[in-house]
Amino acid sequence: MNRVLEVRGLEGGYSSVQILNGIDLYVNEGEFVTIIGPNGCGKSTFLKVLFGLATYHDGTVLHNSTNVSGWRTDRLVDRGIAYVPQVDNVFPSLSVRENLQMGGIQLKSKKLTSGIERACLMFPDLELRMSDLAVSLSGGERQMLAISRALISNPKFLLLDEPTAALSPRYQQQILENIDGLRSEGISVLLVEQNARLSLARSDRGYIFSAGKVVHTDSANNILSDPKIGEYFLGLHQ
Ligand SMILES: Nc1ncnc2c1ncn2[C@@H]1O[C@H](COP(=O)(O)OP(=O)(O)OP(=O)(O)O)[C@@H](O)[C@H]1O
Ligand SMILES: [Mg+2]
Repeated sequence: MNRVLEVRGLEGGYSSVQILNGIDLYVNEGEFVTIIGPNGCGKSTFLKVLFGLATYHDGTVLHNSTNVSGWRTDRLVDRGIAYVPQVDNVFPSLSVRENLQMGGIQLKSKKLTSGIERACLMFPDLELRMSDLAVSLSGGERQMLAISRALISNPKFLLLDEPTAALSPRYQQQILENIDGLRSEGISVLLVEQNARLSLARSDRGYIFSAGKVVHTDSANNILSDPKIGEYFLGLHQ
């Protein structure tokens, strides 16, 4: 089984401040893996270090067996990795179409058009809003746009930070369903979620972080059915 991502002993944070204290984690090709954990435990920081947006200190990050530890974001994008941040993930003063165009700025126009068509197929709600400014979108539509924009460059590995936070149950379901569906297109997914139950229900495996470390990992089914973990984490945000 090809490992899309293999992380060993990753330490990192913001400049000299260390937040991640030795993370071990992997994602196999075609897998959907969810990270859960309490507020402030380093979930977002982990994705940011992986994507070159926070400071790498030590440890190993392999992407498809290539050592990419501490690489810059543009080089990671060239390798087919995309990232959807937790906040500020669209340009509010641009239209939906312009946001998508920004995601495909390096693409030839044919590829850009097919990327926009794919976004419309995936999220029909967005198609209706194509000419509207992103600032006018609902929270759910905004997440759909952020995900679509990340997909425009045709990535093979997608990092997502809380794509369903603060959304209505309808949007939560729709967005997680669509993310799950990406696997059939050969895209592997690493997702951070507060809606732990909902996300684990669609995941292959899960990791629980606490204070910048992995404190538990198992199949998603086992995590969901473990009464101890259930009490502590899965009831936290729902
Ligand atoms: N830009 C930053 N500079 C310095 N410290 C930061 C920065 N961003 C986050 N931190 C700190 O890093 C720690 C981990 O934050 P992080 O955002 O990774 O947590 P999280 O697990 O994603 O939390 P949440 O569930 O609330 O999103 C926190 O103590 C936070 O205050
Ligand atoms: Mg976070």
